[in-house]
Amino acid sequence: MTDLYQQASEAAAFLSEKTALKPRLGIILGSGLGEFADSVEDAVAVPYADIPHFPQSTVEGHQGRMVLGTVGGVPVAVMQGRVHAYEGYRMDEVTFPVRVLALLGVRQLVVTNAAGGIDTSYSPGAIVAIRDHINLTGTNAALGRNDSRFGVVPGTGLRFFDMTTAYDAGLRELAVNTAAEQGWTMQSGVYLAVLGPSYETPAEIRAFRVLGADLVGMSTVHEVIVARHMGLQVLGLSLVTNPAAGVIDAPLNHLEVMEVGVQAAKRFGALLTALVPQIAAT
Ligand code: 6GU
Repeated sequence: MTDLYQQASEAAAFLSEKTALKPRLGIILGSGLGEFADSVEDAVAVPYADIPHFPQSTVEGHQGRMVLGTVGGVPVAVMQGRVHAYEGYRMDEVTFPVRVLALLGVRQLVVTNAAGGIDTSYSPGAIVAIRDHINLTGTNAALGRNDSRFGVVPGTGLRFFDMTTAYDAGLRELAVNTAAEQGWTMQSGVYLAVLGPSYETPAEIRAFRVLGADLVGMSTVHEVIVARHMGLQVLGLSLVTNPAAGVIDAPLNHLEVMEVGVQAAKRFGALLTALVPQIAAT
């Protein structure tokens, strides 16, 4: 039986043999945002099914492949699709790709997702910078025996690790400024994660608003926890696909979520294309 560290190392070694590039920046594309991967240059696409120990997504609209290539000349590793805890995956499976990216040499991570808007000022299609998160999934990706070998940056890989600056203020500022240059205003917000797969009730959304949440979703927080365990700098971006339950007087449906993603994909792609070289230069 190999342990998690060995498995992640095997997956990273497998990926590093697929390309001469050395990605320092990783991007995880959430629901409906996968199209950006098609704009990666010098791309080598590796299906998750081919990567040793890699989890496979079961959700429609989530492609499962790792695209290694360049964006604006910057070597990147782009994940087209992710797995979620609500699919029945364990925390170590959900966050396995982040471990692999870090062992591959990635030091900066852009995590994206589709989210429901709790803040009433967000319209569907808004792209919001995540300022902080509230993990209400009832679990933590760093559960279990601590393996300090995952601390690829000195001072990380600790049993207890800091989450004060989990979402890097400097990267967020770059994102806000780039959006402004492209003619739109990027707001920032607090992302609250639930386990899912049911959407929330209106009472839950009212409660989450009182707690200080602006966005709600079913991903990202576990990946960010593991990214911080390994010392990665994180930028989180949410695409607001719909108002959360009870924010407006209409039911939620997954098709609507997918549709807004299609429409926002262009703006999102333009943002990332301009942002990636700036992030890599920090
Ligand atoms: Cl309203 N809730 C959750 N948990 N995830 C979402 C969402 C809502 N809208 C898009 N993703």
